Amino acid sequence: MTQSISSKLQSLLDEADRIKKQIHQETLSQQELEQKYFGKKGLFTVLSKQITSIPKNDKPQAGKVINHLKQDLQDFIEELSTYSSDPLTQQAKIDLTLPGKNPIIGHLHPISQAINQISGIFEKIGFIRVRYPEVDWDWYAFTSLNMPSNHPARDEWETFFVDQPPHHKKGKMVLTPHTSNGQVREMERVGEPPIRMINIARCYRRQQDVTHTQMFHQFEGLVIDKGITIQHLKGTIDYFAQQFYGPGSKSRIRPFHFKFTEPSFEVDFSCHICEGTGYITNPDNSQQRTKCRFCKSGWHEVGGAGMVHPNVLKAGGIDPSKYTGFAFGWGIERTYTLKEGLNIDDIRLLYSSKLNFLHQF
Ligand code: FA5
Repeated sequence: MTQSISSKLQSLLDEADRIKKQIHQETLSQQELEQKYFGKKGLFTVLSKQITSIPKNDKPQAGKVINHLKQDLQDFIEELSTYSSDPLTQQAKIDLTLPGKNPIIGHLHPISQAINQISGIFEKIGFIRVRYPEVDWDWYAFTSLNMPSNHPARDEWETFFVDQPPHHKKGKMVLTPHTSNGQVREMERVGEPPIRMINIARCYRRQQDVTHTQMFHQFEGLVIDKGITIQHLKGTIDYFAQQFYGPGSKSRIRPFHFKFTEPSFEVDFSCHICEGTGYITNPDNSQQRTKCRFCKSGWHEVGGAGMVHPNVLKAGGIDPSKYTGFAFGWGIERTYTLKEGLNIDDIRLLYSSKLNFLHQF
C-alpha cells in the first residue's frame, strides 16, 4: 500500500471512529440509526464513496477495510439497540434521584364497595345473598305483592315498561322498580321456610333529581319462619345501623303504608352530623344552636319495611297460618351517602363518571 493510500485509509478509519462515537451519543432507534448512517445519503455511505478516489491497484484492499468497518458499525448499532431495550441495563441510564411517578391505581366503584360491605354485614347473621332479574314480569314486581292491576299504589313506583308481548299469566315485562320482586321468587326457590334472604340488584324508575336517579340499587331483606315478629325486624335494623354507620348509630321505624306489608314502616337512621338531635351547637357559644341542614329533625329516611302481608306469603306458596315474616327494602345510594364524612349532596355524582370525584372513595 502506498503512503498516500495508507493516509487515505487512515483518514477513513479516523472518520469511522468519529462516526462510531457519534452513534454512541444518539438516542435514535435502530432503524433510524441505520437510515442516518447507511441510507442513500448516510454518513457511512458518503464515507465509503471515497474509495473511488483510491488508485485502482489498492482498491481491493481498501474495499476490504471499508466492508470490515461497515460490518463493525452495523454490529455496533445492533448491540446498542439490544442494550437500550433491555430494562435491566436501561436502568443505568435512569436518574435514580428523580422522584417517581405514581401509577394511577383504580378501585371498586363506591356503590360496589357498599354492596360488598352490606352483603358481609347480613351474611354474618345468616342471610343468603341472592340476585333476581332486573327485567321481570309484572306478577313478581306488583301483582304477587298484593297490588292487583290498576291499583293506584303502583303509580308510586313510576315504572318503565318493556315493549314486549305480555306473558299469558305473569303480565307485562318491566324494568324492576324495586327489589321486592325477589320476595315471591325467593319463596318459590326455597319452598318451605326458614328464609333469610338479602337480594341486591339494580332498580329503575322514571325519576331524576339530587336524591333520585333513573337507575339505582336497593337491598331487600326477607326473613320468614315460625314466630317472626316486629322485634326481629327492629333488632335487625339496629344491628345494621351499628355495623354500617358505627357504634352509637340509632334507628327508628315510623308507621307507613305498603300493599305488601302489614303493618308497614318507614325506616330512619340517626343523623351523624347532629347526632340525632336535629340541632348543631355553635362550638364558640354552647347556648347558640341552629337547625341541622342535613336531616329532618335528626333523622334520615332510607326505605321501607314491614311484616310480610299474608296474601304475599300465599302468592309464594307459604301458609300464613304457620309462618310469619318481615321484609325491608332500602336504597343503597341513599344508605351509603349518609355515611359519616362523605357529604355527597347529589347522588347523581355517583354515576357521572367523574374520576376526580370517584377517586376520593
Ligand atoms: C320500596 O321500593 C319498597 N319495595 C321497600 C319495601 C321493601 C317496603 C320491603 C317494605 C318491605 P320505596 O319506594 O320507598 O319502597 O323505596 C325505598 C328506597 O329506595 C327509598 O327510600 C330510597 O332510598 C330508594 N329509592 C327509591 N327510588 C329511588 C331513586 N329513583 N333513586 C335512588 N334511590 C331511590
